[in-house]
Amino acid sequence: MNKIFYITTPIYYVNDIPHIGHAYTTILADVISRHQKQIGNDSFFLTGVDEHGQKVQEAAKKREVNPLHHCDEMAKRFTSLWQELHISNDDFIRTTEQRHQKVVKKILNIVNDAGDIYADEYEGLYSISEERFITEKESESGQFRDIKKLKEKNYFFKMSKYQDQLIDHINKNPKFIQPEHRKNEILGFLKQPLNDLCISRPKSRLDWGIELPFDSNYVTYVWFDALINYITAPGYGEDPQEFQKFWPASMHLIGKDILTTHAVYWPTMLMAAGIKLPETIFAHGWWLMKDEKMSKSSGNVINPLDLIEDYGVDPVRYYLMREMVLGHDASFSKESFITRYNSDLANDFGNLLSRVSTLINKNYEGIIPNVSDFSSLEIEIQHSSREVVKNFDSHMSNMAINEAIEAALQFVRSINKYFEQSVPWKVVKDDKIFAGTILYTGAEALRIAAVLLSSIMPERTKNLFLVLNTTSTGRDWGGLKPGTQLGPLTVLFPRINTENN
Ligand code: ME8
Ligand code: MG
Repeated sequence: MNKIFYITTPIYYVNDIPHIGHAYTTILADVISRHQKQIGNDSFFLTGVDEHGQKVQEAAKKREVNPLHHCDEMAKRFTSLWQELHISNDDFIRTTEQRHQKVVKKILNIVNDAGDIYADEYEGLYSISEERFITEKESESGQFRDIKKLKEKNYFFKMSKYQDQLIDHINKNPKFIQPEHRKNEILGFLKQPLNDLCISRPKSRLDWGIELPFDSNYVTYVWFDALINYITAPGYGEDPQEFQKFWPASMHLIGKDILTTHAVYWPTMLMAAGIKLPETIFAHGWWLMKDEKMSKSSGNVINPLDLIEDYGVDPVRYYLMREMVLGHDASFSKESFITRYNSDLANDFGNLLSRVSTLINKNYEGIIPNVSDFSSLEIEIQHSSREVVKNFDSHMSNMAINEAIEAALQFVRSINKYFEQSVPWKVVKDDKIFAGTILYTGAEALRIAAVLLSSIMPERTKNLFLVLNTTSTGRDWGGLKPGTQLGPLTVLFPRINTENN
């Protein structure tokens, strides 16, 4: 049985419409999932929405609609954006769904029966914006809004019991928390004694949640509910053999804001329930706007739809994947978008397609020419096409997406250079046969570059394959068939005129 590469995004809060931060993580997961398929693995890609809890209840109240109605509308905003962004997710989970509520209750019962849940009276500082009790120290940090003192009976999960087991797991599994500096952050956090986790909210205060199966006066804390989505979707509690094909998840992709919930709450919950831990939790950095975190509250959010409307989906996907070094923050600006677009996509990649197709149209009646004897330059290009595939895959598996893209683009640049050196537009006048070899070599190298970039730009590369009139998406040399009539010429990436922007 082949283990499926199972990748997840966070499930996003539906208190507001999706923004570019949400789009980023989802596009990244999409790129990784498509790439897994390209290298021959089965992939299962899950995204969804987090619909319970105070934030959502308040958002619905503000709009004067009932919470479920609000969630229905917001979930649609997410699914339609994902469609627009060519997101190839295999499932979309909503935490209000029956399939999910069932699994949350099941897990609560298992953990409760194991003796890992207890009731206690608790008095402490509660942050409404974070929806959790915070420590004195945290309250002084200035990072929490809407703090009030609360005293109430609640249910607690014995998270502390699993502290040593978790530390041990992190140390024994170097790929569990990535990148490395995030792992160290969590290990540092675990040097302090771990508190137990309050997993209930009294209905008197919040009723928009999943009722505790053992006390109907309470709903489940939104994080205890939300994290479980990752096992609901692949069918936890149904056919165990089916579930095993997906679980443990290969990768939970998250932003660094939710590292603790994923790297501490979630694994200890799984330990208590006797379920294996995910293989990798990968936390990426922030997209910043002029060095400030892009967030709803600071009102500096770029609407991805605006950019897409102006410049197309795939260029935006390309930009987001190329500009962020995974694990670090990245700065977003329209200027850097345009610079990147014009240099990589218009000048290098798009231009190569124009060159190839124009020359073939003009000199070979649009028919891909035959290949005759190779010179050393052609042999070099063939060799580097094998190298670039290897490098691309290795960068992808190291989560260095920007470097994978750069490797593909350098290959594209080297083909442009090859044309400048071997001047097929001149050679064709005296030696049409050899010029044909040069053009075939350029076209085939371009095809391979496009195959590599297809997980990042699925639509534009499809258009490129239409121009080359090929269905060959293999990455080995020789996919293009001489004698094939090219499809109609299109300009893949029209240059953005910076004077009007
Ligand atoms: O935290 N840059 O949902 P959420 C990059 N429901 N990524 C960003 C970003 C930015 N400026 N802003 C947001 C929640 N993100 C919970 C998750 S999972 C069981 C529950 C992305 O709507 C990033 O992936 O606040 C971040 O982790 C996520 O959106 C938070 O989305
Ligand atoms: Mg958030």
